[in-house]
Amino acid sequence: ADALRVALAGLGTVGAGVVRVLDANRDLIARRAGRPIEVVAVSARDRHKDRGIDLNRFDWVDDTGALAHADADVVVELIGGSDGPALALARATLAAGKGFVTANKAMLAHHGYELAQAAEAAGAPLKFEAAVAGGIPVIKGLREGAAANAIARVYGVLNGTCNFILSTMEAEGRDFAEVLAEAQALGFAEADPSFDIDGVDAAHKLSILAAIAFGSRPAFDAVEAHGIRGVLAADIAEAAALGYRVRLLGVAEAGASGLFQRVHPHLVPVSHPLAHVTGSTNAVVAEGNFVGRLLFQGAGAGEGPTASAVVADLIDIARREFGPPFAMPAASLETPEPADGGSRRGR
Ligand code: HSE
Repeated sequence: ADALRVALAGLGTVGAGVVRVLDANRDLIARRAGRPIEVVAVSARDRHKDRGIDLNRFDWVDDTGALAHADADVVVELIGGSDGPALALARATLAAGKGFVTANKAMLAHHGYELAQAAEAAGAPLKFEAAVAGGIPVIKGLREGAAANAIARVYGVLNGTCNFILSTMEAEGRDFAEVLAEAQALGFAEADPSFDIDGVDAAHKLSILAAIAFGSRPAFDAVEAHGIRGVLAADIAEAAALGYRVRLLGVAEAGASGLFQRVHPHLVPVSHPLAHVTGSTNAVVAEGNFVGRLLFQGAGAGEGPTASAVVADLIDIARREFGPPFAMPAASLETPEPADGGSRRGR
């Protein structure tokens, strides 16, 4: 069968990881996908940086935007940023009727609805498993695995940097500022680490999860976000004495007055599985009315796990298994109501 031809924007950690996964598991992936998956064109800031992989076999495109018109079936966007080149590439790719795979949670949190409409209008796939919780198949899990259920709540540890900081402060009794520097050195922090520690990154991811779980439009502005700057080693010690651990959780739940979405440090009882999520691990809990409580746990960042999620999306596209990006057709996605019973109405 004809190969699925892929144009890749961005060869940072995740982009290089995608090339490595496709190389290492080439035959297995071709069998699962029903056809080979081949990267044909790439664009990246630095062509000559040594990434430990042979990149000369690809067409190099200088202008990222031109990838939308490369001789490819799908564009994979791993450059990030909610607007700018990533958004321009997404729009141009979908307008050209090609598939678009992205790990860009910020872009989806802000423009996911528009892009979903564009994808559906073009009959093209828009997929983003890697955008939420890295390697954990939580988009598929909610969108497909739990599709028969009404979801009451979805919540979890969505930012590995914060979880590393909080669980390290807890284990070693150290202060926030000291552990932050370590987390940044480990390489899973965002380019702007305030996105991690102020809860913005978790809010991006939560807005995407909520859209899938509740059939709403991703709405970053509807998420109330607070981060972990103010958490003291003493708070963590006091919580521990009372049988709790401090975790930054994103929580989305359907209430009588609408959809409630917030990110802030929570006291989690030690008996709860999320209290045992340590280091940069992510975990998501969803409560369905027939399946009960689901727990998804694994690596929320890093080369191998995030690339694994990107390639899973490519395999779905190769098999032509895709539907509306947010599980429901864009036309039926509702706008989330504020939790306070509609104070926003009539403004
Ligand atoms: N900065 C993110 C985190 C990376 O720490 O979880 C994965 O989205």
